[in-house]
Amino acid sequence: MSAAPVVSLRGLSTRFGTNWVHKGLDLDVAAGEVVSLVGGSGSGKTTLLRQIVGLLQPTEGTVALFGEPLFAGNRAAQKLRRRRFAMCFQQGALFSALTVYDNIAFPLRESRVASEDEIRDLVALKLGMVELQPEHAALMPAELSGGMIKRVALARALALEPELLLLDEPTAGLDPTRSAAFVELVKDLQRQLGLTVVLVTHDLDTLAALSSRVAVLAEKKILAYDTLDAIMKLEHPFIQEFFLSERSARALERGRGA
Ligand SMILES: Nc1ncnc2c1ncn2[C@@H]1O[C@H](COP(=O)(O)OP(=O)(O)OP(=O)(O)O)[C@@H](O)[C@H]1O
Ligand SMILES: [Mg+2]
Repeated sequence: MSAAPVVSLRGLSTRFGTNWVHKGLDLDVAAGEVVSLVGGSGSGKTTLLRQIVGLLQPTEGTVALFGEPLFAGNRAAQKLRRRRFAMCFQQGALFSALTVYDNIAFPLRESRVASEDEIRDLVALKLGMVELQPEHAALMPAELSGGMIKRVALARALALEPELLLLDEPTAGLDPTRSAAFVELVKDLQRQLGLTVVLVTHDLDTLAALSSRVAVLAEKKILAYDTLDAIMKLEHPFIQEFFLSERSARALERGRGA
């Protein structure tokens, strides 16, 4: 294993029409880190995750994963690299016409790495990992609760055993108990599989419980990148508002206790 960062963004700028969302943004994420990306609504967090996984090309700058430019190499090399990371989208984004089973099997079938027999075992394994029961496999996405959708989306993202996992608001819309359970699940997976995780969250309980470092996206770049304790000492208005309200202080207290 090289010591290259798992994610490395350099001079990244993003323009939609006349709207510059990012300008000269840099970010490195080391192996095994859990980095929380925070920023106001519309600051470009989802856009940044989409760029990290190659769904969107930055206007300027570079994205490197595992020490190589995202689009380096021929198609086979890119396909291999593609299997090393996975993203869970903000809305879950399951295929609504496919069962839970077929949703989780989808990346396995698409990448042709496993036979149908192996896929059956792998789907059962991933369902267990996200604490769903075998009988849930036959359900359609419309029959699932919000928390179950998030877990199925996570199981699907884990199907190809990625080294890097990108999560967009994984606990948004969950009640506190479900949200805490999801946090524990990601923590366990991170410990067991040594995953590197980049997650976007507005939820301070999640942030405090999971992050090794926090990256603050403001003024079109990563304005601060440090441990939660160090970030909270900064005087930037966004940071003050985000972390230092009374509500936030309570959530952070709870997160530390967890
Ligand atoms: N495909 C697109 N075309 C045009 N503008 C876009 C596109 N995608 C995003 N934007 C714009 O880029 C900005 C950042 O959007 P993005 O979804 O990344 O924000 P966000 O930080 O994830 O916000 P939220 O916290 O609300 O999810 C917004 O102004 C949005 O309107
Ligand atoms: Mg978003």
